[in-house]
Amino acid sequence: MSDSFEYLARETKSDLYSKAKKDRMGFWAEQANQLHWHKPFTKTLDWSAAPVATWFEDGELNVAYNCLDRHVLAGNGERIALHFEGEPGDSRSYSYAELTAEVKRAANVLTSLGIERGDRVAIYLPMIPEAVIAMLAVARIGAIHSVIFGGFSAESLATRIHDADAKLVITADGGFRRGKASALKPAVDDALGENACPSVENVLVVKRTGGEVNWTAKDIWWSEAMAAADAEHEAHAFPAENPLFILYTSGTTGKPKGILHTSGGYLTQAAYTHRNVFDLRSESDVYWCTADVGWITGHSYVAYGPLANGVTQVIYEGTPDAPHQGRWWEIIEKYRVSILYTAPTAIRSFMKLGRSIPDKFDLSSIRVLGSVGEPINPEAWLWYSEVIGGNRAPIVDTWWQTETGAIMISPLPGVTTTKPGSAQVAIPGIVAKVVGEDGVELANEESGYLTIAEPWPSMLRGIWGDPKRFQETYWDRFPGQYFAGDGAKKDADGDIWILGRVDDVMNVSGHRLSSAEIESALVSHPWVAEAAVVGANDEMTGQAVVAFVILRLDQVEAAGSDADVSRVLREHVAKEIGPIAKPRQIMVVAELPKTRSGKIMRRLLRDVAEDRPIGDVTTLADTTVMSSISAKLAAGAND
Ligand code: WT7
Repeated sequence: MSDSFEYLARETKSDLYSKAKKDRMGFWAEQANQLHWHKPFTKTLDWSAAPVATWFEDGELNVAYNCLDRHVLAGNGERIALHFEGEPGDSRSYSYAELTAEVKRAANVLTSLGIERGDRVAIYLPMIPEAVIAMLAVARIGAIHSVIFGGFSAESLATRIHDADAKLVITADGGFRRGKASALKPAVDDALGENACPSVENVLVVKRTGGEVNWTAKDIWWSEAMAAADAEHEAHAFPAENPLFILYTSGTTGKPKGILHTSGGYLTQAAYTHRNVFDLRSESDVYWCTADVGWITGHSYVAYGPLANGVTQVIYEGTPDAPHQGRWWEIIEKYRVSILYTAPTAIRSFMKLGRSIPDKFDLSSIRVLGSVGEPINPEAWLWYSEVIGGNRAPIVDTWWQTETGAIMISPLPGVTTTKPGSAQVAIPGIVAKVVGEDGVELANEESGYLTIAEPWPSMLRGIWGDPKRFQETYWDRFPGQYFAGDGAKKDADGDIWILGRVDDVMNVSGHRLSSAEIESALVSHPWVAEAAVVGANDEMTGQAVVAFVILRLDQVEAAGSDADVSRVLREHVAKEIGPIAKPRQIMVVAELPKTRSGKIMRRLLRDVAEDRPIGDVTTLADTTVMSSISAKLAAGAND
């Protein structure tokens, strides 16, 4: 299928490919120079300390200034930066001048609380304007934010606060989700309880729901601090490599990784990709990315990319079904959204509800559609294109990761002829390969591993506090190349198809979860002796969490005969990690399939979870284990 639309920018965009090919460094320097540099850079890349890159090293900039003041000074202060739509129906809009004023005050609040350059600030907020304001205020003073998704539990919050030694937490009384107020502050109280996070000196609390809050000596109302703060704040320049944020993501071990991003290179690529992948025309566009700022998509394509480009965007607090199933389409109609960026899992859930719901709204403003987070199946792609895009809007399927910081592989509207289900081509400036076990590039049609062969500006600079893990996870497997953890294949045209993770990382509704992390949550429950977790195909969520557990029967019996093992363990995982990690299914088994060296063979468990004939069992220490698991499941002796 081809997109038949002519784009004004067609020529310029195809030029990007040839320019980047001819002179990759010159190309990135040109992109970086679209930002405002307080002190211009003279060096583009230093890769001599690989795998830690420095980009634009001797340049100095202020990230928040680039996202705010610069637009105001250019005479665009009246342009709307954020249209905020609250779930209960309240809305607020901020012009660039107003958003700048808020961030200046917030920067002064942070400074008055003793936050200095390099200090870590944890942000645990719902999708409200204060989340963006807080991030930009932290950036403005050269401090480092660590945003923690509001759906994470107190336990997860505590681990992350602790790992980064955050000095301040910014939270809210709660937010609105699924038609009701949902509290956030209690999780912060739990996380900080009994001095579990001694680094935290203060907690700033935004009033959103007006619900009851427990008040501690560290707590300060955001509104009071803002009212007392000075309105003026001058943005100072920081070196390009000044850390901007840490964002935790799941890896193959139980401990989340604090992915570190810095300033100049990150902002360069976030802004460049946002501009070109979404075919921006800033005057007329209204852009909406539905991601929460708790994920990388919300960092690069809500907070930084769009604001650096000075566009008008929509942010929405709640769930797509509140108070009715057409809420998203109503928002698009209300603000005349022209660019929509969302995840396949959302598209599939709308598909299931049927086209009659979006058909009730005027979606004619839509011009470009984006997809991110997981492979988009061709059915969902076609539905998205036809029902939401009216067969006019091209779809950009964007592949990237928390680690890559910004989009890496994606068609460019008007240049690339799109193909349902394929992320297609590395964007100009990026060199992506599909390699075999030996790291050598494969021929088209052969499946292998996705790698990035050359450093890029928004690449992670490390894992917070763990340089060894950084080296081992991404660089040791294929020396000289970044190993993404995804399987991939190029088709006969050379277009890239992402085949999913090749490690023990799952992708549930576009969110990354680690098997090991959920396993350790399960075994922390007294009833569980051993656990193995796999991601099984799921029609709605892409993958779903399926857990196999060996119970400590004496403990379960002690809890009484009516113990609901499945429910208790699912709730336990939600409490330990967050509701997104809750297993779809808990399967009680007597044994787990292991190799002779004791490694759990998750591949075989995946066969069971996906109802497939069980694969090769010859490497198992005990080859009868799988037949006893299948027999037990077939007999229904399970929860
Ligand atoms: C993993 C990264 C990138 C922001 C959201 C997720 C998968 C991401 C695609 C896509 C196929 C995709 C990969 C990747 N993924 N985008 N367009 N097609 N798979 O960020 O949590 O860091 O997860 O998401 O498996 O490795 P993340």
